[in-house]
Amino acid sequence: MNHMIYLDNAATSYHKPKCVLETLAYHTRNSSANAGRGGHDASVRASSLLMEARETAADFFGISDPLRIVFGQNTTMALNLGISGLIQDGDHVVISSMEHNSVSRTVAARENVEYTVVMANEQGYLNPFDVDRAIRTNTALIVINHASNVTGSVQDIRSIGKIAEKHNIPLLVDAAQSAGCIPIDVEQMNISLLAFAGHKCLMGPLGTGGLYVREDIPIRPVLFGGTGSMSESLSMPEFLPDALEAGTVNAPAFAALASGIRFVERHQSEIRQKETYLTQRLLHGLLNLDSVTVYGSPLQQNRVGVVSFTIDGRDPAECSNILNQKNHIAVRAGLHCAALAHQTIGTIQGGTVRASVGFFNKPSDIDALLLAVKHLC
Ligand SMILES: Cc1ncc(COP(=O)(O)O)c(C=O)c1O
Repeated sequence: MNHMIYLDNAATSYHKPKCVLETLAYHTRNSSANAGRGGHDASVRASSLLMEARETAADFFGISDPLRIVFGQNTTMALNLGISGLIQDGDHVVISSMEHNSVSRTVAARENVEYTVVMANEQGYLNPFDVDRAIRTNTALIVINHASNVTGSVQDIRSIGKIAEKHNIPLLVDAAQSAGCIPIDVEQMNISLLAFAGHKCLMGPLGTGGLYVREDIPIRPVLFGGTGSMSESLSMPEFLPDALEAGTVNAPAFAALASGIRFVERHQSEIRQKETYLTQRLLHGLLNLDSVTVYGSPLQQNRVGVVSFTIDGRDPAECSNILNQKNHIAVRAGLHCAALAHQTIGTIQGGTVRASVGFFNKPSDIDALLLAVKHLC
């Protein structure tokens, strides 16, 4: 197999730290029992792995009670649990125009729920005052994408959090692209619900994600099934995480996610510095190519390492195929499951080519992409 240059970290972090792979292998071998479903040693071991993972995630996000974290397969599941568990017929929801389909489709699927899409500017940034202005008397939820998977733009969650608090409306933050790349403290930022991916910037395995739900948020179950608790009742338990965590949880994968979070914690400033440097190198190189248009902010401030671009006269899908086949460079083309964001930046026809950097990329990866793009031009 040819050496691949992986620049699709926004989809998932393909290269995982050694500690994550070793933890996953070790616990798959030694702790693959069903957590919370038996009194035997193996089940108890799996339960303590999950508890440890919840504690690690809670510490990382400034969450005081680890039991308020519900584990699930990915950010999509977390967002669905948060949105569908909160809103009811007759409610109004505020979302931004940078949302991923896992938010916009989930909200749009509700027939008797109205929603307002707050427009970001053409670089993908929201004005928090526009969020304030969109609030109605029946607004039951505000959902905001923290860092865009199309433009890399990072929203001012702190200000939006203050607005949500002023109106006493829950704020659900989609941290799929930010958790692990940008510091998040749920209390300081007034975040009521936080949906995060384990498999992206937190460097955990595929199939990991989670939802934090603050103590005062009255959330209803969305998935029904066994929890290993209150089994005599036909209703789901009312306490978290059980209320939202039906079915078997992959304890070895979450143990590995905890390793990933600890890795990110240990290397936090190094990760930020490296990703900033690589993003700057990429932006600078692309901006110097005449027939390339770069979307989002050309500057490094308030952005993550997600860079979208198009080449004059070239179809993004064709570019990504050539980069893959000829240069063995993995990038993504199209709408990146975020049509609203492409409407915002004016690329709804055909989308963009997206390169997204990660901690394990090297400057030479960026240079290889820039050279290949230059040839495509
Ligand atoms: C901003 C954003 N939200 C939600 C998702 C869905 O995340 P997941 O793939 O973990 O379901 C993604 C995926 O890329 C994303 O970029």
